[in-house]
Amino acid sequence: MTVDELLVHAQKYIHKDQAKLLLADLLNKNPLELLNFLNSSVDNEIANEYKKRVEAIKEGKPLQYVIGNVNFYGNKFLVNEDVLIPRFETEELVENTLKYIDKLFEGKVKIIDLGSGSGNIGLTLKQKLPNAEVDLIDISPSALEMSKKNAEELKLEANIYKSDFFDQVEGKYDVVISNPPYIKDGEEIEDIVKNNEPELALFAGVDGLDCYKKIFKDIKEHINDKFLIALEIGKDQKEDLIKIINDTFDKVRIDVLQDLSERDRMIFIYNE
Ligand SMILES: C[S@@+](CC[C@H](N)C(=O)[O-])C[C@H]1O[C@@H](n2cnc3c(N)ncnc32)[C@H](O)[C@@H]1O
Repeated sequence: MTVDELLVHAQKYIHKDQAKLLLADLLNKNPLELLNFLNSSVDNEIANEYKKRVEAIKEGKPLQYVIGNVNFYGNKFLVNEDVLIPRFETEELVENTLKYIDKLFEGKVKIIDLGSGSGNIGLTLKQKLPNAEVDLIDISPSALEMSKKNAEELKLEANIYKSDFFDQVEGKYDVVISNPPYIKDGEEIEDIVKNNEPELALFAGVDGLDCYKKIFKDIKEHINDKFLIALEIGKDQKEDLIKIINDTFDKVRIDVLQDLSERDRMIFIYNE
């Protein structure tokens, strides 16, 4: 079959952008380039694999898991069902964290990414701040495997180990960053998320705050005098988080930032 015929076939079942992305990935091209090859014939084996992948997406599997990678902050991160698919909002968390680090610190910083999943946050920070010492921890052994693979692929050095948030962590950090699970148990979420992404990466107790509470319980033992804590939060959690922060610290600066959709999705806590 030709590229064009395969695309026509796929578009009967899935969105045309997904059809293009999927085929481009299999042919190692970028989606725009495909248009120059519409009449080229595609090897049978690849055509069959393509149809299988189209079927998987039609059945409700996320494109990123089918392809096995996702672009995050300009890098390709490997993903599978053991890790959350990195989201655009989290790129905004990284972007803003880099700005705060630039403003608050000079020289080498020590960073810990709590609940590191694929490693997207911590490894991106390491790439942008080569002098930084970066630790990645997660409670899921299979997520840790994936983040180690990503560190290897991207040729980035980080200490990657298993911990229930701060339980196995020793020492103090300048920057603590986390995008922990924050969905309320039983909350309605999209089927494609609920049916495919790891429960451990999504849910955090009846109020969705269990992970933040756990992090803040131990945080004071693990931050230097001058520190930055950067957190992704659910869109209705600002007030709850501010309370947890005020119960933990006497005097700190708290900035709540909105994402591009103007929802309160990030909190930065620091002292100057
Ligand atoms: C929302 S995902 C975030 C993954 C990745 N950092 C990202 O931004 O895409 C939360 C991660 O926290 C991990 N996690 C859940 N409970 C944890 C715990 N008690 N201690 C450490 N990590 C935990 C999950 O395994 C998952 O990888």
